[in-house]
Amino acid sequence: MLKRLFLTTIATLLFAFQFNISSANAAELSESIRTVNLNDQGEKIVLSLKQVKQGQRVFVDKCTYCHKAGLTKTNPNVGLGAEALANAEPAKDNIAGIVEYLKNPVTYDGETEIYELHPNTTRSDLYPMMRNLTEEEMESVAGYILIQPELRGTMWGGGKVYN
Ligand code: HEC
Repeated sequence: MLKRLFLTTIATLLFAFQFNISSANAAELSESIRTVNLNDQGEKIVLSLKQVKQGQRVFVDKCTYCHKAGLTKTNPNVGLGAEALANAEPAKDNIAGIVEYLKNPVTYDGETEIYELHPNTTRSDLYPMMRNLTEEEMESVAGYILIQPELRGTMWGGGKVYN
């Protein structure tokens, strides 16, 4: 009897917790959180809720496998946290920078093309999962990545937060 009560309580708590997270996400997605850098010339855009949702779908579908929680499985030094993106060459703390990377990926210092190493649309013969990725989907997934540090804080990109 006690055990059952205990399990029910746990289940209720878990449910409440999950519910909280998903409803909080919708409520927390204020316009200020959805405002991201469009390019490295200081232009900004406000992502629509639809774009964020689409970005999440693409991320879960095509990126989580290697970038769970904004980390990078095979190269922990090149994560998707705000600081890592901002310090990359060229900077990827903006939509255009990430979209360009998904077409023509380069090493962190920008010196060497890595078409064989990172999924990209240019060599979609090597990465069939990138074949049908539209420009719009690439922009959305870039936007999704850019708002994660604000939503998840230290839970994104290995705990480094950009101050
Ligand atoms: C097969 C594993 C894999 C998949 C799938 C993958 N990535 Fe990556 N990603 C990597 C690796 C490895 C690096 C680091 C490359 C290097 O050594 O410079 C990286 C780096 C990046 C970077 C550069 C980060 C920085 O700090 O400069 C971005 C942006 C990125 N990935 C976005 C994505 C997006 C968006 C997707 C989904 C469409 C994706 N990746 C799918 C493995 C992957």
